Amino acid sequence: MRVKKTATVKRQDPSLPNENMLIVGASGSGKSAFLREKIDFKQPRIIAWDPEEDYQLPRIRSIKAFLALAKKTGFGPIRVAVTVQPNEENFERWAGIVFELCHAAAPMTILADEIADVTRVSKASPYWGQLCRKVRKYAGRLCAITQRPQEADKTIMNQVEYTWCGALKTQASAKYMAAEMGISVQELQDIKNIPRKQIQYWIRKGTDAAKRETITF
Ligand SMILES: Nc1ncnc2c1ncn2[C@@H]1O[C@H](COP(=O)(O)OP(=O)(O)OP(=O)(O)O)[C@@H](O)[C@H]1O
Ligand SMILES: [Mg+2]
Repeated sequence: MRVKKTATVKRQDPSLPNENMLIVGASGSGKSAFLREKIDFKQPRIIAWDPEEDYQLPRIRSIKAFLALAKKTGFGPIRVAVTVQPNEENFERWAGIVFELCHAAAPMTILADEIADVTRVSKASPYWGQLCRKVRKYAGRLCAITQRPQEADKTIMNQVEYTWCGALKTQASAKYMAAEMGISVQELQDIKNIPRKQIQYWIRKGTDAAKRETITF
């Protein structure tokens, strides 16, 4: 797909900050609650890969319809959640279209939910890999979300500035994420969640020390 560019648009700016984020936690750990609190869902350019229909955005249910919308939108405002069969082929097509839409000098937030279902550990698929590696320079913020970090593509893990981790179910995930966060497994598991009242999580910026934070409802 090609979207028309205007002459004045600066295609990329390598000096832009890295805002990418990896969000990891078991079901109910607060991943969506955190995003709902931190992300402005009313912003003009926001696109979600949303297999579970978690995000309140106008919804589209086929890649064909997403492509048509993208062509119509060009570099204009676009607020959409894409809910299609979560397989690798659809995800790769989604990532390709999203990457084209990034080529504007306008900020865009991209949410990719449960990437372990649609990516592989071994090697990122081409468009997804490109999106992970280049989105920053195009003023994009990519938030990749997963319950199973060990099973998901590693490209995004090397490209994020923020790592978020909520409660985890297995010892293996806890060990894996404790290493990513630079804290002990015990510290990571020391999260107090009270149903419908509060969730806790760890967040780390770059190589800074991770911090424990709380959201109360
Ligand atoms: N507005 C709210 N008021 C009260 N409790 C809430 C609210 N939003 C979320 N919660 C609670 O916060 C917890 C986290 O829910 P959330 O949907 O964020 O989990 P999740 O990590 O996104 O799970 P999944 O992987 O299944 O999508 C749940 O126990 C839920 O009941
Ligand atoms: Mg969720």
